[in-house]
Order: sequence, then structure tokens, then C-alpha cells
Amino acid sequence: MFKIRLMIFSLAATVIFGQTSVVGAEDTAFSMNEKGELIKPEGYREWIYVGAPVTPNDMNDGKAPFPEFHNVYIDPASYQHWKKTGKFREGTVFVKELVSVGSKAAPSGNGYFMGDFIGLEATVKSAKHFPKEPGNWAFFSFTTKDHKTLKPTATALPTEACAACHKASAADDMVFTQYYPVLRAAKGK
Ligand code: HEC
Repeated sequence: MFKIRLMIFSLAATVIFGQTSVVGAEDTAFSMNEKGELIKPEGYREWIYVGAPVTPNDMNDGKAPFPEFHNVYIDPASYQHWKKTGKFREGTVFVKELVSVGSKAAPSGNGYFMGDFIGLEATVKSAKHFPKEPGNWAFFSFTTKDHKTLKPTATALPTEACAACHKASAADDMVFTQYYPVLRAAKGK
């Protein structure tokens, strides 16, 4: 009798603690709904800001694929992991917030200065959710046609639409660290 109770207890412990440790190990900054869509990340302007590439329309025949500024952030726990190991961990989230070019002149000189928020993209690395994607990265867009509102959820985009270019040209595990001095400076420190 005691033996059976012990067995039941250890079984329950495996189930309970097993699950808890999986959730704990994940500690991720993203959530998906029951349809497998990514819920728009919140609070990312308080994450780690890694860089701000600019691809203005007026240098791209008026049709840059991601017009203007891209403010790129990584979630803080994944940044800590990158600092320690030089790798992007399971659950890493990048957010790329698109910002229009506001002014082209400032008291400091002529240039490109940020205007308004016009879109939001994100990438998530998860072997658990995206086992078939290259590097387990999935790509999402919350941008809408009017560039004023954002979609509350997004489905993963086809591999050819986004991942292929990242795989071909990005320096580190499909992330364009060559344009993010913050990540290069921190890598594996
Ligand atoms: C033709 C190449 C190309 C395609 C296609 C592409 N990207 Fe990128 N992406 C880049 C480059 C280059 C950067 C870094 C420089 C920049 O932002 O201009 C970048 C940066 C990003 C970042 C910031 C994190 C990182 O990996 O560097 C996100 C998020 C992102 N892209 C999402 C997307 C999404 C979503 C799609 C599909 C809708 C997409 N990308 C399609 C070239 C591409």
C-alpha cells in the first residue's frame, strides 16, 4: 500500500514539477493564442534597444520594403543569455518597430529624424512552437495598411517571405547583428 502511494506521489511530482520546470526554463517574453498566433508583444520599449537601421523610401525608389527607421529591441532575459553565451536562446524575441522619417533638417544639420510609429514586426525563436522553420525562427508582422493601428495578433509568415533573406545574409543565427553594435559589443562577455 505504502509502495503504491509512493508511486502515485512520485508520478504526480513528475507531472507537477516536470511541467513547472518546463515553464520556468522558458521564461519567455512572448505568448501565443489557441490558434497558434503570436499576441502583439507589449512593453518592448523597455527592452534592450540594439540598433536603428534606416532604409528611407527616398533612397529606395519610393518603395522600401520596411520604410524608414527600424528600432530593434531584444527581450531582456534573452539579452542576458546572449551576453553570457553568445547564442540566442530558446524563446528569444526581437521586435522591430517602424518609424517614419519626420524631418530632414534639424538644428544639428540635415539628415533623417524620426517621425511617427508606422508598424511593428517581430521574430521568435522557438523549437517548441516552430520546429520546422530554419533556426526555429518564426516571423510576424502586426503592421496594417493605414500604418496607424496595429493588429492585435499575427500568424507566422511563410519561410520564403522573410526567413530566407535572414538566413542568406544575417551574421548570427539569422539575426543581423552586423547592424547592431549593442549586440556585437555584448556577445559572450
Ligand atoms: C531582402 C531581405 C529581407 C527580407 C525579405 C526580410 N528581412 Fe527582416 N531584416 C533584413 C535586414 C537587412 C535587417 C537588419 C537591417 C534593417 O533593419 O534594415 C532585418 C531585420 C529584421 C528584424 C530585426 C531583428 C533581426 O533579425 O535583425 C526583424 C524583427 C525582421 N527583420 C523581421 C522581418 C519580417 C517579419 C520579414 C517578412 C515580412 C522580414 N524581416 C523580411 C532583411 C530582410
